[in-house]
Amino acid sequence: MRCGSNEDVTNLIEKAVEHFGGGVDFILHSIGMSINVRKGITYTENNYEFTHKGLDISALSLHRVLAAALKKDALNEWGSVVALSYIAAQRVFPDYNDMADNKAILESIARNFGYQYGVKKHVRVNTISQSPTRTTAGSGVKGFDGFINYAEKMSPLGNASAEACADYIVTLFSDLTKYVTMHNLFHDGGFSFTGVTQSVIEQMEK
Ligand SMILES: NC(=O)c1ccc[n+]([C@@H]2O[C@H](COP(=O)([O-])OP(=O)(O)OC[C@H]3O[C@@H](n4cnc5c(N)ncnc54)[C@H](O)[C@@H]3O)[C@@H](O)[C@H]2O)c1
Repeated sequence: MRCGSNEDVTNLIEKAVEHFGGGVDFILHSIGMSINVRKGITYTENNYEFTHKGLDISALSLHRVLAAALKKDALNEWGSVVALSYIAAQRVFPDYNDMADNKAILESIARNFGYQYGVKKHVRVNTISQSPTRTTAGSGVKGFDGFINYAEKMSPLGNASAEACADYIVTLFSDLTKYVTMHNLFHDGGFSFTGVTQSVIEQMEK
């Protein structure tokens, strides 16, 4: 499915409703891609055609999926939507490039659609801001190895794994988190609220 196409997204939603014999209880948005990152084009030199495409795939796709789901009444009352984000939406990580802007807009869409869907159908919408994780998309970011090690040292609990992220997502899909909505939730072993750690100090003293 091309997530930049309204037709494909609507088709996906219709087929999902058909397959499950009615509405679904949750949707996970786990898509990200920057052509500027892929092609090694730096932030200050971004090609805007690539920027538009990346924004469409990485952020507007969430709006598109939610709009189609709302129109087709595909999400059940008290359903839950989660999209995956990264802390570059709030702080500068230079090599994350235009994905930082994409994530900031993704989080904003989650907040704004969270309001709309909450009022209309009691559906909640949140983003999870995950630790750097070794995946195809993650490893495409320049200097990823050094960076993931730095994040590990800067997180009191260490980097959160992909499996731990999946566990956290399940909690947000469960009825135990019914009133959590419009949030960006950090799942990063404490990285986001740590100024420095003993481990990093020792590294700097070498
Ligand atoms: N890996 C990390 O360090 C990390 C950290 C925080 C957040 N995230 C986010 O997690 C999510 C999943 O990424 P991942 O790290 O598992 O990498 P991944 O490469 O496994 O997943 C990216 C997915 O996006 C899909 N995709 C790309 N372009 C698409 C398009 N045009 N239409 C439809 N699908 C398309 C790919 O098929 C792939 O399944 C992304 O939103 C990513 O930004 C990743």
